[in-house]
Amino acid sequence: MTNISHATLIEQLKWRYATKAFDPNAKIPAEIWTALEDALVLTPSSFGLQPWKFLVITNPELRAKLVPHAWGQAQIADASHLVVLCAPTKIDVPFIDAYLQDMATKRGIPLSALDQLRGMMVGFVEGMTDAQIASWAAKQSYIALGNFMTSAALLGVDTCPMEGFLPDQFDEILDLPAQGLHSIVCCPAGYRSAEDKYASFAKVRWAKEQVIEHR
Ligand SMILES: Cc1cc2nc3c(=O)[nH]c(=O)nc-3n(C[C@H](O)[C@H](O)[C@H](O)COP(=O)(O)O)c2cc1C
Repeated sequence: MTNISHATLIEQLKWRYATKAFDPNAKIPAEIWTALEDALVLTPSSFGLQPWKFLVITNPELRAKLVPHAWGQAQIADASHLVVLCAPTKIDVPFIDAYLQDMATKRGIPLSALDQLRGMMVGFVEGMTDAQIASWAAKQSYIALGNFMTSAALLGVDTCPMEGFLPDQFDEILDLPAQGLHSIVCCPAGYRSAEDKYASFAKVRWAKEQVIEHR
């Protein structure tokens, strides 16, 4: 495998910024978008349970309907693609069993070989309140968000992580409750507008010594 250089990694992470203005005419080519979808799917999660669904919305009418429920943020409508990262409202034993069945199939092992793991996972889920499960699931979506943004930056694609929206309104417009889903966080992706002054703003980050401690 060819590793990218450490310099390229840092260069791209400095290049990325929360894009405020996307060029509405600049579309992400299909092969790049496919890689970004693959990056979403490859995101690691706690126990590997993948409690998520990634809605990719390109329909302009649907996106226009979402804008007023996202503080009027134009990125929702203007970016090439909009991803709404969602979590299932219910994570129960059948959900765990479906995952374990998938693991048994993909690894060519008997389901019974996963009994111990199953016991651990069922205990984990049953030991939490619904609110704790919802919070746990939401955290997994944020891992996917980070993975998506970094992958996009490495491919020269701009993104804007967005919590500035009303999840209940998004859920209703996107008919998510009928699918047992709830929206967690959004991420428009595309290419920055040449007019976006935010692209040239200096990064504001705590000093390395302040946030990284070696022991
Ligand atoms: C979870 C999350 C939610 C955010 N929500 C919004 C948002 O709704 N609108 C927006 O313009 N920026 C949003 N941001 C962008 C942050 O303000 C931005 O990442 C931060 O100021 C650092 O700047 P940079 O990403 O340009 O380096 C969000 C960032 C994160 C990580």
